[in-house]
Amino acid sequence: MKICVLPGDGIGPEITAEAVRVLNALDLKFEMEEALLGGCAVDATGNPYPEATQKLAQAADAVLLGAVGGPKWDSYPREQRPERGLLGIRKQLGLFANLRPAILYPELANASTLKPEVVAGLDILIVRELTGDIYFGQPRGIEMRDVDGKHQRFGFNTMHYTESEIRRILRVAFDAAKKRNKRVCSVDKMNVLECTQLWRDVAIEVGAEYPDVELSHMLVDNAAMQLVKNPKQFDVMVTGNMFGDILSDEASMLTGSIGMLPSASLDENNKGLYEPSHGSAPDIAGKGVANPLATILSAAMMLRYTFNQEAVAQRIEGAVKKVLAQGFRTGDIYESGMKRVGTREMGDAVLAVL
Ligand code: NAI
Ligand code: MG
Repeated sequence: MKICVLPGDGIGPEITAEAVRVLNALDLKFEMEEALLGGCAVDATGNPYPEATQKLAQAADAVLLGAVGGPKWDSYPREQRPERGLLGIRKQLGLFANLRPAILYPELANASTLKPEVVAGLDILIVRELTGDIYFGQPRGIEMRDVDGKHQRFGFNTMHYTESEIRRILRVAFDAAKKRNKRVCSVDKMNVLECTQLWRDVAIEVGAEYPDVELSHMLVDNAAMQLVKNPKQFDVMVTGNMFGDILSDEASMLTGSIGMLPSASLDENNKGLYEPSHGSAPDIAGKGVANPLATILSAAMMLRYTFNQEAVAQRIEGAVKKVLAQGFRTGDIYESGMKRVGTREMGDAVLAVL
């Protein structure tokens, strides 16, 4: 079990260190190697995704990433920006499936802007296709054209999916649902977009391979409304790149706790990149106050999806629930009466439960 650890920038090194401590406390043998990605890599080598990092990431079974970026690099030329490193590694590793859970622990129900009865106990998983759709389809561009009797600027993008692209992301969603509450909601816009009619047709075909999982379909505009109105109706939601971009951000904000949300991006063989959903938080970097739980929960996802260690993943998730129940809170989730702790102490609390 080879893990490439990429702490990155800002709070990245602080939160990754806690996830590494948790992994090292398990009865499993990992080979871990650290490398540079993002701004720190630009500083050291001029390249946000240096060749040494590429070698390690390609040879590993899984990548654990903190976060990249910060104001220092905002004025750098595009090819030396930290985000370039992220795009580069996602593309090189062929990560087509993005899994983003939105979980609201009962202890944190007040962190949401929605009423506690609407969101308390929320546990949904958004599965977003990451390498196709209108974001990458050709042709695309802005050019001068004669349209409606006028020589004018014309902007265009192309939405397309092959049936094999749709099938492989649907299978990820159904496989995930099998380990959860066995319901998949496939989101499309088949009433307007032919491309997503194909999406729905293929979803039905794949659904037939999974008789023990219930499949439903929803139009994306309705899905956006239902996520706010009654989010607990969902178990796994699966959708294309663009709809998934929007719905996964909407779902994550139902919880109000950015420091608690993990993510996974998988390739065809369940090799994966695991990272918190938040960024490098330059405003609190180096202060030892960042919440490490999103990164620790990302490590749990790594055990579930890449290493097939469901029981160990649940042990980690159970330990996180327990420390919340014990009252431990970093600043981002603090409420009066609770025990305010820093990054390292939160890691200590999880280790103590484990
Ligand atoms: P951010 O997620 O870094 O921070 C937003 C707010 O949430 C800040 O107030 C921050 O202090 C707080 N926060 C985030 N994570 C936290 C944690 N674990 N514990 C406690 N508080 C936490 O987003 P922002 O400010 O928009 O971006 C900052 C930098 O991060 C930028 O350079 C951006 O490009 C980069 N970024 C990197 C991402 C990645 O590496 N995947 C994703 C998003 C942003
Ligand atoms: Mg987004």
